[in-house]
Formats: sequence, C-alpha cells, structure tokens
Amino acid sequence: MKIIVLSGSPKAEKSVTLQSVKYIEHHYPEHYFEYVHIARNIKKYEANEEELKLLGQKIQDSDGVIWAFPVYYTTVPSTYKRFIELVSEKCHSCFKNKYTAVFSTSIHYADNIAHDFMRATCEDLNMKYTDYLSHDMHDLLQSKMQQNLKDFFANFITSIKEGLKVSKMFAPLKNNDFTYQGEAVAEKITTEKQVIIITDALDSDYNLLEMINTYSSCFGQPPEVINLNDLDIKGPCLGCCRCAANNICAYHDQDGYREFLDYVIVKADIIIYAGAIRGRHLSALFKLYYDRSFCYTHIPFLTGKHLGYMISGNLSDNQTLRQSLEMFNRGNINLIGFVSDESQDSSEIDRQIYSLARKGVVFAEKNYFKPDDFIGLSSEKLFADAIRGSLGGIFTADYRYYRKNGLLTKVSWGEKLQGALMRYLMGRKAFRKAVQKNMINHMISGHKKVLSSLKGEE
Ligand SMILES: Cc1cc2nc3c(=O)[nH]c(=O)nc-3n(C[C@H](O)[C@H](O)[C@H](O)COP(=O)(O)O)c2cc1C
Repeated sequence: MKIIVLSGSPKAEKSVTLQSVKYIEHHYPEHYFEYVHIARNIKKYEANEEELKLLGQKIQDSDGVIWAFPVYYTTVPSTYKRFIELVSEKCHSCFKNKYTAVFSTSIHYADNIAHDFMRATCEDLNMKYTDYLSHDMHDLLQSKMQQNLKDFFANFITSIKEGLKVSKMFAPLKNNDFTYQGEAVAEKITTEKQVIIITDALDSDYNLLEMINTYSSCFGQPPEVINLNDLDIKGPCLGCCRCAANNICAYHDQDGYREFLDYVIVKADIIIYAGAIRGRHLSALFKLYYDRSFCYTHIPFLTGKHLGYMISGNLSDNQTLRQSLEMFNRGNINLIGFVSDESQDSSEIDRQIYSLARKGVVFAEKNYFKPDDFIGLSSEKLFADAIRGSLGGIFTADYRYYRKNGLLTKVSWGEKLQGALMRYLMGRKAFRKAVQKNMINHMISGHKKVLSSLKGEE
C-alpha cells in the first residue's frame, strides 16, 4: 500500500517523531512510504497553489495518510497549523474518504488535546480517522513500545484493507456570518493596572476589531494593543532547544519576538488575547506566538498575570480550543474568562466584554488568583517530575528555576513522615479498626475546628 506521511516537525529528517515512523517502515517493507516535510515546505505551499494541488493529488492516489508531528503547546507546530489552514481552504476535497491515523511524540503534556484537535481536523476534512498513538519522545527505545508502534500500523492497514467503518466524534464547524456592531461603553473603568491586548486581527476580521474597540472603550485610559502582524518575527520555533540552558533562542537578536515578549512580561498585569477561530484553533500566527515563547522553556513566564480571551467565532462548538487555551492557566497565572461573538447579539456581546474588562481589573487589584485545579496540578507535577529527571539535565534553566521556586518537590519531610507513621499504624488491627469506625468524622475533624473557631470569633 502507498502511505503518505505528513511530517510536522521543523527538524525534518532529524525529527524524533519521524524516527518512529521510519521504524514502522523498516518493519513493513511490503508497503511504500512517502514523506512530506510540512515545516520545510510551508513557504512553498503558501506561495504556490500548484504545489498544494500536486500534494493533494498524491494524497488522492495514496491508500492512507499518517499525520506525524511533535506536540507543540497543546496542539501542533505553527507551520502544521498553517498547512491545515491551507489545505482546508484550497484542497479540502483531496483528503475526502482517505483512511488516516495520527501519531505524535511529546512528553505527554496535553497530548490528549493535540489528538482531539487532529481528530476534529481529520473529520472536518472528511477523512476516515481510524486511530491515534501518542508516544513519549523516548518510547522508541523500549521494546514494548516498538511492538506498540508495529501494532498501531498493523491496525491501520487492517482498517484500510477491510474498509472498516469509522465513527465521528466532533460536530462539524458552523459558519458565523453575523456582524457585530459594538457600542462604546459610557461608564469608564479607572485603574492603575496595565492591560495589554495581543491580537492577530486583520482588516477583514471586522468582528474581532470591533470587540477590541469595545473592550478598549471600557477604560478611561485605553489599553495598549499589540498586533502580531506588526511584529518583526523571522520564523517559527525550530525545535532546536538551544534555549534549554539559558533561555536564549536561536533567533536571539535576529528578530523582535523576544523584545516584544519581555515587554509584555514586564508591563502587563492583564493580558487579553483577541483572535478569530480558524478551523479548530486560533490562527497559525497565534500558534507561532505560543511556539516561540518556548524560549522560556518550561518556566511559567506569565506568572502573576491575569489572562482573558476575546474570540471571534463559535467557541462553544470548539471545546478543544477552549481546553487548549485553559492549559496556560496554571500556578499563578489566572484565567479571567472568555467572550465570543457567537451569541449574535451586539448588546449582549457589549455587556460580556464590559464584564471581562471589569472582572480582570477586580482580580488584578485584589491580587485574586484561583488555586490550581486538576489541570494545573497535573501540569505542575508532570513538569516537576520531568525536570527533576532526565529533562532537567538538558533544560538546566528550568532546573534552576524549579529548584529556586520550590517546584521540584511538593511533599515536605513532615508530610512524608506523617504518611510513613500512618502506614505503620494502619498495619495494626486495633488502630485500623478505630480509624475505619471514625473515618467520616475524621475527614471533617480539621474543618470542624475551623468552624468552631468562627463561633469563638462571634
Ligand atoms: C515549542 C515546543 C513546544 C512543545 N510543547 C509541548 C507540549 O505542549 N506538550 C508536550 O508534551 N511536549 C511539548 N514539546 C516537546 C515535543 O513535543 C517533543 O520534544 C517531541 O518529541 C519533539 O519531536 P520532534 O523531534 O519530532 O520535533 C514541545 C517542544 C517544543 C520545541
């Protein structure tokens, strides 16, 4: 069979992900593999529709397509996102009814979101999505995972050969052709807090620009608006990890990205991201903004900021996008909320925007930060483990930061000792019985103390 591999890593032949696909190829010599390096060719596809059509033809002539990419900031690299935008716009039909499987490597941070994004994208392209496989970047070194790769491919081939039926998981995207007409807010918010709006709005993004205007009109002193299109950004993240030791990117001093990011880090208390939905995420340019922030590696560089989102498009149809954006709120990075234009009611949107502005200021002035939920806690733990382990051997800047900020180990000696003592005592029948009998009361004993101390206050 003829399999087209759409490779998403900027490292092309040196991609970690690609090595696993090559491993598969080696074990199935009866199948023909053709590799397309998306990041390397993206300029060509952007500039020349013919090139895109040629690729579309190859896809039509193939038996199956494997999307193989590294997870970048909860989804795919910006160039892969751009590719998806281009094919969705220009050669959508070439993908129709093609069997497909999706493979990624990562450190398993939000890889589930990346795979939801890819599945939804494949379904939008009317492909026959069979399955996904998400490997850790070192999994190929283990024989169990090597077998896993072979099985994954064998299952893919079975689906194609036997024409197995696939099911859809995501509702199709709906168009929103509503025009939002905002009204300047009369009652102005005054605050010392600094607000920066980061947007990728083009002149054609009428609703988004109008949302930005309404938001700005909420303040006596209008916030600064930075448009990503106006920045001097030389290119996408190269995945070279040159930043690992000292947070200095390979593009250092070659473009304006780092200066812009550091300006936002120093200046903003509140950041409002304003973007339009393109497919299943924000634009490839917005993705590039996120990817290039990897110059700060795994350091939560927006600590202490309050983040809000103004999205043009049907956000509630696009839960993967919301989840992806919410992943950035961990530690002391606070989510204010989301506003979109999907209600198709201008005065309703005006009020939602005012509420976003007001809430952001209230949060910032009160220094109100929501504690981590499951997403935040599991993210912290995943990074802490990885950085305490082999990742921290390379990402030494992360190691220094995590150690300095007490992020490497969350369990204190006191807690460890208490755990050990309790395990010892629970091994004794009489103690265990007494605990079991009182379990429910025990669970609220501390809480009761707090409440009874309140009575003392009265
Ligand atoms: C800009 C950037 C963003 C990344 N974001 C994530 C992420 O969100 N989740 C994750 O688990 N790994 C993330 N990684 C790690 C890569 O997914 C991982 O190293 C992958 O194996 C690289 O594959 P490649 O060599 O094929 O490019 C990121 C790496 C880079 C450079």
